Amino acid sequence: MLHLTRILAPLLLWIRFGCTAPSAATSEACKEISTAIPGRVSYPASVAYISETSKYWSTVLREIQPACVVLPTSTEQVAITIQILNRYPDVNFAAKSGGHDPNPGHGSIQDGVLIAMREITGTVYSKDENIVYVRPGGEWNDVFEALDGQGVAVVGGRLGLVGIGGYLLQGGISFLSSQYGLAGDGVKSWEIVLPNGTIANIDAAEQPDLAVALRGSGSQFGIVTRFAMEAHPIGQVWGGIRIYDNKNADQIFEALHNFIPNGPEDPKAAIILTNVDAIGGLNPILIFFFYDGPSAPTDGALADFIKIPYLSSTTKTQSYASLTFTVPYLKDHPEMYDEISKKWKEITAPYLNSPVALASQCSVDFQPFPAKIGAESQKRGGNALGISGDDGDRLLLELQCAWTSASDDSTLHQMSEDITNWLEGKLHEWLADEAMEYPYLPWLMNDAMGDQNVTGKYKDYAKLKSLQAQIDNKGLFKSRAGGFKY
Ligand SMILES: Cc1cc2nc3c(=O)[nH]c(=O)nc-3n(C[C@H](O)[C@H](O)[C@H](O)COP(=O)(O)OP(=O)(O)OC[C@H]3O[C@@H](n4cnc5c(N)ncnc54)[C@H](O)[C@@H]3O)c2cc1C
Ligand SMILES: *[C@@H]1O[C@H](CO)[C@@H](O)[C@H](O)[C@H]1NC(C)=O
Ligand SMILES: *[C@@H]1O[C@H](CO)[C@@H](O)[C@H](O)[C@H]1NC(C)=O
Repeated sequence: MLHLTRILAPLLLWIRFGCTAPSAATSEACKEISTAIPGRVSYPASVAYISETSKYWSTVLREIQPACVVLPTSTEQVAITIQILNRYPDVNFAAKSGGHDPNPGHGSIQDGVLIAMREITGTVYSKDENIVYVRPGGEWNDVFEALDGQGVAVVGGRLGLVGIGGYLLQGGISFLSSQYGLAGDGVKSWEIVLPNGTIANIDAAEQPDLAVALRGSGSQFGIVTRFAMEAHPIGQVWGGIRIYDNKNADQIFEALHNFIPNGPEDPKAAIILTNVDAIGGLNPILIFFFYDGPSAPTDGALADFIKIPYLSSTTKTQSYASLTFTVPYLKDHPEMYDEISKKWKEITAPYLNSPVALASQCSVDFQPFPAKIGAESQKRGGNALGISGDDGDRLLLELQCAWTSASDDSTLHQMSEDITNWLEGKLHEWLADEAMEYPYLPWLMNDAMGDQNVTGKYKDYAKLKSLQAQIDNKGLFKSRAGGFKY
């Protein structure tokens, strides 16, 4: 994590002291795009510019000032923008959909060209094809609303306010994943503006290798303007958030341990368990429940959770960073959830107990990642993560903190490094103890911190890297746009 600390600190200093200005080439590129697609380019201090640059989940990103914001209304306008950028080799840019990726420089770009998908929206259900066409702008709520009453769903964001484009390109885990794989797995074709500025429709049946790459590689293959997603029948679902007193942690972790290997038995059930560690010794446990059915099951692993007594409350997010880590399901280590929670609390305590941490909070999420997801992914041609039904059950960890003061950024990143190192060591201990080989443990890009080498963990890293180099042969996306790289 040290790497990011170093990158982030100067970046934030830059921004705060306003020491930079867009290069002449960048201003020229903005001007040329503005001439080519009149009315779609905005500059600092304009309403359109301010509205787009302030629309990020993490407040840190709202300080990043692009030279100009391009708001194309069509795929052709995105293509024109990319064609122009091809003529300006020194100009950096970023594609943005919902702006939920909290890493600076992914869906944001200081002094470069921000290409925001806000106006490229719309959801169309084609009953004949059993496909839902989804455009990257807006949020999952828009998609759910459009499909409401039609009896179908797509594998999409668990929280309706999350963005669409980045979510689908980074893989995307959903409450429906045990039934149908990652969100990206359900994409059958992509309308995309390739790095050379041409518009292509990538069909998974015709270009399986590129399809695999587009399911989990992030933004390195072009800008996607439409996803054709598999439609699934859906009726009433049961779910919501429950908040628990930490004194029930033992019972909750026992229920979690029983739930993880339950994927094949009841793929309709899903949870995320968040163990919060906030100031003032508040540490509730939150559980997001989902059941693809009109009411919760009355027996089985989900029902055991539901029986545990709960409280209620909510929190507010400020700056936000997230770190991903994957561990295998370790049947003889039901105490691991508590151990991981305690370690994260121990690492974050000095910070959360200090006076500067006002209104900050940290948490660890446990997201069961059953082997069933890999089986469903394979059925659909596979994804960049390379997961399969032969892998064991896993547990995704999302370690996150929300904090208010940008001056604490480096502390937060140091804590991430500490927990990662501890987890790596601990994992070897646990595996040795269970006499298990080191399993395949890819990370989830959606939850990752910018300097985590997510793609490096992918099974077919070398193959995907060479495919990226082939499609993006001038390195437009590799070296001039942000996001996770091969
Ligand atoms: C509150 C919250 C809840 C979340 N819940 C989940 C969850 O349930 N499951 C899950 O898997 N993840 C979840 N996430 C993580 C989420 O998937 C990622 O943050 C994702 O990047 C959000 O998509 P976005 O469109 O908002 O991305 P942005 O921030 O707009 O972009 C993210 C990356 O994708 C690139 N990108 C965006 N659009 C395009 C495009 N059209 N073409 C090419 N590249 C593009 C950007 O350049 C950037 O690198 C959650 C995040 C938040 C903040
Ligand atoms: C990421 O991991 C891959 C595979 O191990 C490695 O080849 C690559 O150099 C790593 N990249 C970085 C930036 O560390
Ligand atoms: C653009 O790139 C794609 C993918 O590499 C390629 O198939 C296509 O021929 C290229 N188009 C032009 C005009 O160079």
